[in-house]
Amino acid sequence: MSEKEVVEVSEAEIAVHWQEEGHRHPSARFIGQANMTDPGIYDRFSLEHFPECFKEYADLLTWYQYWHTTLDTSDAPCWKWFVGGKINACYNCVDRHLPAYKNKAAFIYVPEPEDEPHIALTYQELYVRVNEVATLLRDFAGLKTGDRVTLHMPMVPELPITMLACARLGVIHSEVYGGFSGRACGERIWDSGSRLLITIDGYYRSGNLLDHKEKADEAVAVAKKEGQTVDKVLVWRRHPGKYASATPMVQGRDYFMDEVLKGYAGKKVDPVSVPAEDPLFIMYTSGTTGRPKGCQHSTGGYLSYVAGTSKYIQDIHPKDVYWCLADIGWITGHSYIVYGPLALAATSVLYEGVPTYPDAGRPWRIAERLDVNIFHTAPTSIRMLRKAGPDEPKKYNYHFKHMTTVGEPIEPEVWKWYYQVVGKGEAVIVDTWWQTENGGFLCTTMPALHSMKPGSAGLGVPGIHPVIYDEEGNEIAKGAGKAGNICIQNPWPGAFQTIWGDRERYVAQYYAKYCKDQNSKDWRDWPYFAGDAAVQAADGYYRILGRVDDVINVAGHRLGTKEIESACLLVTEVAEAAVVPVVDELRGRVPEVYVALRPGYKADKKIEADVVKSIETAIGKIARPKHVYIVPDMPKTRSGKIMRRVLASLSNKGDVGDVTTLANPEVVEEIRKMVH
Ligand code: WTA
Repeated sequence: MSEKEVVEVSEAEIAVHWQEEGHRHPSARFIGQANMTDPGIYDRFSLEHFPECFKEYADLLTWYQYWHTTLDTSDAPCWKWFVGGKINACYNCVDRHLPAYKNKAAFIYVPEPEDEPHIALTYQELYVRVNEVATLLRDFAGLKTGDRVTLHMPMVPELPITMLACARLGVIHSEVYGGFSGRACGERIWDSGSRLLITIDGYYRSGNLLDHKEKADEAVAVAKKEGQTVDKVLVWRRHPGKYASATPMVQGRDYFMDEVLKGYAGKKVDPVSVPAEDPLFIMYTSGTTGRPKGCQHSTGGYLSYVAGTSKYIQDIHPKDVYWCLADIGWITGHSYIVYGPLALAATSVLYEGVPTYPDAGRPWRIAERLDVNIFHTAPTSIRMLRKAGPDEPKKYNYHFKHMTTVGEPIEPEVWKWYYQVVGKGEAVIVDTWWQTENGGFLCTTMPALHSMKPGSAGLGVPGIHPVIYDEEGNEIAKGAGKAGNICIQNPWPGAFQTIWGDRERYVAQYYAKYCKDQNSKDWRDWPYFAGDAAVQAADGYYRILGRVDDVINVAGHRLGTKEIESACLLVTEVAEAAVVPVVDELRGRVPEVYVALRPGYKADKKIEADVVKSIETAIGKIARPKHVYIVPDMPKTRSGKIMRRVLASLSNKGDVGDVTTLANPEVVEEIRKMVH
């Protein structure tokens, strides 16, 4: 696909055109207690003080050995932070809090069934459980520092316990979102080279206890076919002692964690001191081509960055009750449910289920009961809660001081409901823009320093220096209000180190576009290309418009159109497939599928159903398309390329523009009749 065409199918084009909104100001009460009230932070983190400024974040952590080089650019654009430093992430999130906070809850777990009791896991209890699991992973599973292990787990306390146990050993965890299919998990096992899969028998979703272990068998089979053998599958049980899956355990391969753990009661293992640059975890995300990319995150740089941003942007103090409603299976959960909050000795709420289960009052009942004062979620959940229960928040006596929105652009109308109704006009809002690749926030307002503007993320956070380029690499004037590609001029400690096992793709996708000299070792020559379109208003605030590549942001989850298209092509009758994003009232964007059949086949409902099923098997239910259209032919250029832009316009009831240069312009009219 040519550069031009990539831009043409961008979501930015179909983005809603918002009006400029007025600013809201943080309350004196919020400012009075905030962690960061010094506007001087922007001077301290100016480009002039780069990269040494990030010492301020690294100093929030406890190091076994202090680093000698803050930023090493010798292997540009693979940046090395805090070189020479030695650290352990688990120690920083657990052990070091014991003297002051051993009896404070690290996590409060809220099961989805409302009659199941909450579990408060103190730092001491977390310490004990993490040690037991770490000993098991070392002695029973044979894991060593640097090994990879795939986790395919939902929102249960055993997930962060397992992650921290890995971190304790310097083992690299790769957690796959629980809602992903067995096949998607298997591909990630193979890509990361994991010999161990850790999963669970089942979990609750909308009132049903789902069978999750069945996905493990498929995952192991898929990995094996690709050439990666899994020796052991460790299975947590949602209710220890009771097996919730219909799939049999495989003798000699599958083990119940609760049973094996009995042999490790009270066992301890010292945290392994690892170089700051050792990977902490891999997180897969969708890209332009079919294969998911394993974003490799470092230990020292990543943990510094999430600790710093959790402290100053999430405004977390140890006494706060912080609830991020994301799933730990996504980067938001890694950074802002587990590592950032725990590095600060916060109390982090972990909710198993769906926000609207059993009704739209659920989150506010949880907030009232636990006295949550910091709340963090995505526009999709806000839209859902607003639709299902616009007046529910008023019925509950909770008070947020701070709220976050993340993952998608938020419409000003939705923002205002969040502010007035959910936040009761008391809470500040931060609209945080960032990506799996980034480790932590890139753009947002600083909650006590800036006013908020509905629909806009805000400025670059301290130490992040954004710039907007046009396609040719010319800088779009600051504050011009003109759309372009948002890039970051400088590296930062939270940035991923590379794509696991594929440096070439890392350079090509994120740095090649605007790099003037690929041999340069100077970070100034390597702006980071984010793949999002953005505008900067005269007040300096950035508004993110959406992806400029073939990624669809469905309800805040990134899916690659190519991944979905490959799944469609697995259906025998399908000859060609094109997937486009369509605007959806609740989920932001959802995929819509166009397929053309092989000669000799006729369109029928069964083929449509098979396409949906194939997508669910390959990726998971989150990728389920809004519609499947079986079309007589795809609109194509004379050189035979499918014009996804035309299909996207049809799906979104927009103007298809001039189609006379297509090889088959008549087909556009036929498809329009079908869609409208
Ligand atoms: C989008 C999620 C508008 C953006 C942390 C980005 C946003 C992609 C915002 C990354 C926001 C994220 N406003 N758009 N506040 N935050 N995005 O990797 O398109 O799951 O590129 O990381 O989500 O999604 P990812």
